[in-house]
Amino acid sequence: MRKKLLAVAFAFLFIFTTYISIFSLGLKDTQEFKAVPLPYAYDALEPFISKEIMTYHHDKHYQTYVDNLNKALANYPKYQSYSLEKLLKNLDSLPKEIYTPVKNNAGGVYNHEFFFSIMTPSKTAPSGELKKAIERDFGTYNNFMDQFKKAASSVFGSGWAWLVSDCDGKLSVITTANQDSPISNNLTPIICIDLWEHAYYLQYKNNRAYYIDNWVNVINWKKALENYTNVIQ
Ligand SMILES: [Fe+2]
Repeated sequence: MRKKLLAVAFAFLFIFTTYISIFSLGLKDTQEFKAVPLPYAYDALEPFISKEIMTYHHDKHYQTYVDNLNKALANYPKYQSYSLEKLLKNLDSLPKEIYTPVKNNAGGVYNHEFFFSIMTPSKTAPSGELKKAIERDFGTYNNFMDQFKKAASSVFGSGWAWLVSDCDGKLSVITTANQDSPISNNLTPIICIDLWEHAYYLQYKNNRAYYIDNWVNVINWKKALENYTNVIQ
């Protein structure tokens, strides 16, 4: 009798744990957006961007956008399968109740992933077709950099400055507010700088111009060339 009870108990335990495992797997949404790790160490961009900034920026601010995007889409499985790009290029097709949270948080995720990818501890410089296009569309590299820094300094409140390309490979410098992204306007980002206070305040305090001057030292021009090549190919 005791053996029979034990067998029933084990059987029950087996069924229960199996059920819990399957149930948990069912709840685990494989379509959820996941934070992408930094492609370099947190302190890799020092002295230009501190380890403390990169840690908070990636692990807290960026992660929050990922979490809030998943929350916004929790009851909309159709849109969970969309890429960030597809969401941001089709904002007007979203149900109106998730338009703003998706715009802000998909934008926040996309912009930050792009921003982290366009920085590097390695010293790089414009080259190839991108260098030629900068000289064609801005006259000289220095003219481009002046325009980029001026645009970055002009952003009121929180936002971004970008070097973007249209579908014909024509370059321009633009700014966006909040977490708006150029891809929503059919423009391809080549480089960008985050101008939210969380991107610089811990190190540069209120001196945004000093942050901008220092930040340009970590631009990943190799990655920028890849971004541009993808447009003109
Ligand atoms: Fe940011």
